[in-house]
Amino acid sequence: MDQITLTIDGREVRGEKGQTVLEVALKSGIKIPHLCYHPKISKTGACRVCLVRINGTILKASCVEPITEGMNVITEDEEIVKIRKWILELLLSDGDHNCLYCEANGACEFQSLIQRYNIGEVKPDRQRTVKEVDYESSNALRRNENRCILCGRCVKACKEIQVMNVWSFAERGSGTHLVADDDKNIGDSSCAKCGTCVQLCPTGALSFQTVSGKGANWELTSTPSICIYCGVGCKIDFYKNREGVLVKAMGNNTGPNNGHLCVKGRFGFDFVQSNKRLTTPLIKKNGVFEEASWDEALDLVATRLTEIKEKYGSDSIGSLSSAKCTNEENYLMQKFMRAVIGTNNIDHCARL
Ligand code: FES
Repeated sequence: MDQITLTIDGREVRGEKGQTVLEVALKSGIKIPHLCYHPKISKTGACRVCLVRINGTILKASCVEPITEGMNVITEDEEIVKIRKWILELLLSDGDHNCLYCEANGACEFQSLIQRYNIGEVKPDRQRTVKEVDYESSNALRRNENRCILCGRCVKACKEIQVMNVWSFAERGSGTHLVADDDKNIGDSSCAKCGTCVQLCPTGALSFQTVSGKGANWELTSTPSICIYCGVGCKIDFYKNREGVLVKAMGNNTGPNNGHLCVKGRFGFDFVQSNKRLTTPLIKKNGVFEEASWDEALDLVATRLTEIKEKYGSDSIGSLSSAKCTNEENYLMQKFMRAVIGTNNIDHCARL
């Protein structure tokens, strides 16, 4: 790789040929505000919030500007601040960004920039077009286009990461808006409910149903964990609210999933707090399940397995283990089947 040396805010930094100013700055711990840029998708260069001064004169969008040898970059000066504020004010005036009733409040990149640049209420000079809200059609996602800043992250997340191409922009100019498939409700669209678009959305335009009404973002605490559904072992950050209820699963960037989740990992955590979950063994007596002790249940299983093996042979028995068990538990299960029962009839749901 060709190494390139440049200066950002008076600091000498190094990058590789092909990298952009923003990439090198972020890697070097230098913060440049950005909205449409996200490291997991291709570059868009749409919002222009990331503009920087190159070699003392020209202003460029740092997220699409390749680094060159000896380049001198200034990330913020009086003129840059003025332009950034204009851009943020325009975005603010064109939507309904009342954080009081927004699910993203406290976890919104747009809100952070509005606060960083000390921008107050902006009165639009024309009647704002009220855009579509779709809170009902999908049991997974919610959409409020009035909070959309048209950064395109969701469109690219769906196209480049999930490869579903559900989201796109329709119409032009001030009428530009986000549509699912050919302008369907989310629930009627081909959305696979992976939630990647929500995870990358820098505002509250897209959000999860599971979070709605379950507490503010600053009340949630996260715990890293591993998905229990398949053999990939995706890393997930589970969020619970003040009542201890799990409300959100976010892909953790350090796992094999690199932040991405499928529908099961994203939303399949409701069983954890289901009141239908078994808390004690049940034995069917006269066609009805009755609660039993573990000793009672294990004695029954041992007796019946012995009877079946003697009468029909070892291969008349098989086992289905579960990804919800640990590796050690699954190992013990196959060992038990092979060494005690004497069969290789073993399977596991993570093989699917
Ligand atoms: Fe660079 Fe949007 S982050 S143009």
